[in-house]
Amino acid sequence: MVEDSPRLRFRSIFTDSTPDERRQNFEDYLVFTRAHGGELLEPDKDLTRKRAQLSHFRTRPVRSRRSLVDQAAFYRNHLVFRDDPATIDGRTLLWTCVYKFARHEWVGITAAWEASTPLANAKTTVDRISRHHLAEEFCHIRYFEEMFRTVALDEVIWVPLSPFQQRLYRLFPRIPGVLTDSLGFVTELLGVLFYRRMDALLDELLGDEPEARTRVRELLYEITVDELAHVGQRRNFLGGAAIRIARRLVAPFFRAFVRDIPESRRLLDIDQMVRDGRAFDYSGYPRRLLERTWIPSYCRVT
Ligand SMILES: [Fe+2]
Ligand SMILES: [Fe+2]
Repeated sequence: MVEDSPRLRFRSIFTDSTPDERRQNFEDYLVFTRAHGGELLEPDKDLTRKRAQLSHFRTRPVRSRRSLVDQAAFYRNHLVFRDDPATIDGRTLLWTCVYKFARHEWVGITAAWEASTPLANAKTTVDRISRHHLAEEFCHIRYFEEMFRTVALDEVIWVPLSPFQQRLYRLFPRIPGVLTDSLGFVTELLGVLFYRRMDALLDELLGDEPEARTRVRELLYEITVDELAHVGQRRNFLGGAAIRIARRLVAPFFRAFVRDIPESRRLLDIDQMVRDGRAFDYSGYPRRLLERTWIPSYCRVT
């Protein structure tokens, strides 16, 4: 992402924190997320401010003038890559890869929404945060749909994963808390690093369609602001032992995630993403995104 002003500095996301700090940070995050996303519209898995923002984009649509994507190649490869990625142009690879990341997200949040406590029954701050967080993720799916329409991929639908993979997602809530919390955090970390790389790829691959590139980037930045906040929020679940587990999970988890996405090898430098994940301290993101997001108090340098 393009640095647009002097860097803000933060501590490592793996820095130490006390239980009291984390308790206070959950309270702070809930205040932030309500102001940022708006009220929860539970039957629609939506949030009032996010809905208004999406309607702003939808009522001022930007559509690419020329086909930015080899449509047939996209639809042939977006679920499982059937061709040799070396024979497919970079723009099409970008969108099959984005689809796969977003689809995993959709599958994960659909399972988690079923398992999480409705707001009316929520008793704790963490229950309320979880419900808001998931609604925000559903908003991202709608933002991705708008991105696909921007590049003339109008037929994209979210296809469930194979029964075996779905079983894995349903098992997730039964894994011991320390491991799910660590994995939940590492998932969010992978997300923000992927979005940072995606931002750079927009310049490399969509340079000849500036309007479409700008619109896709606006949508991407809205998602990234939320996802940077999720990194801190999921970090806040982790005490001393769990944060060390999480750091060890970065490399195996990142590599396992992209193993089934062969086009990722042409788009992403996974070794670099692992290094960036283990050294994550919010650097490399535009200041205007960092100023809008939420960062735990123990990662801020005062
Ligand atoms: Fe997300
Ligand atoms: Fe997220």
